Amino acid sequence: MAQELARSHRDRAATGTVEPGGDVTNRDIRIASPGATGWWQNAWLLPVVAVLAAVMIISVPPWLAFDPAALPIPLDPNVPGLDYVLVLSHVLLATVALATLCLGIWPWLRVRHLAVHRWSGRIYVLSALSASLLTLPITYLNHPLQEGAGAYAVGVFWFTTTLIAYVAIRQGNEIRHRRWMLYSFAMATTIIWPILPIPFLANVLTLVGPLINLLVIKWWLVRTARRGASATT
Ligand code: HEM
Repeated sequence: MAQELARSHRDRAATGTVEPGGDVTNRDIRIASPGATGWWQNAWLLPVVAVLAAVMIISVPPWLAFDPAALPIPLDPNVPGLDYVLVLSHVLLATVALATLCLGIWPWLRVRHLAVHRWSGRIYVLSALSASLLTLPITYLNHPLQEGAGAYAVGVFWFTTTLIAYVAIRQGNEIRHRRWMLYSFAMATTIIWPILPIPFLANVLTLVGPLINLLVIKWWLVRTARRGASATT
């Protein structure tokens, strides 16, 4: 009896439960295999972390003076105090989100220290949901409707992808969790486009950048699915 139970458990772990949408749900199936922990398989993480660290080093310090008179952007003259509090909160929460995002996509950490992955993931979800929601009133205060369409879309998509990824893992669906966390990653990393020093392309990239990120992530999802078990992130 005990042997049968163990065998049935092993079989379920091997096959998972296939949902109508094709997702496999089973807490026993791990997204990253132990084979994904070699440094060479995690090497792609270095440029990603380096770029995100550079973004934070360039854009966050002016906000840490907590001085509304010394900001890199103009505040809404009608409600400067409100605009300041909203943007400052957005910057601080987004910084936490970007830092924990780097931990979340690190396969070695996820395989070897799942508890750390879970905690950094919870902090990412809380900070990303709040930072993305804050972009809505910020955009409302700083842009006319047509001009702000792209910013609204990015904020809403960052919020939605993060929420779907969180709900998926609460339901034990690691495949869907991974897919939507990668879309959330695509949105969070759109921050790289507006700060690129290419003046004549800056406006275009603010709009096209999020699409480029989504396409890269889609390509990564297809590539890792072809390889079988999503061996890396
Ligand atoms: C450390 C990281 C970040 C910093 C320093 C930062 C800074 C800012 C600032 C200063 C604003 C106000 C812009 C203005 O009023 O003209 C803003 C708005 C916004 N941020 Fe962030 N942000 C960060 C991360 C993110 C991330 C990861 C996203 C992800 C999508 C994001 C999306 C937005 C959006 C959609 C707006 C509203 C658009 C706008 O007002 O132009 N931010 N951010």
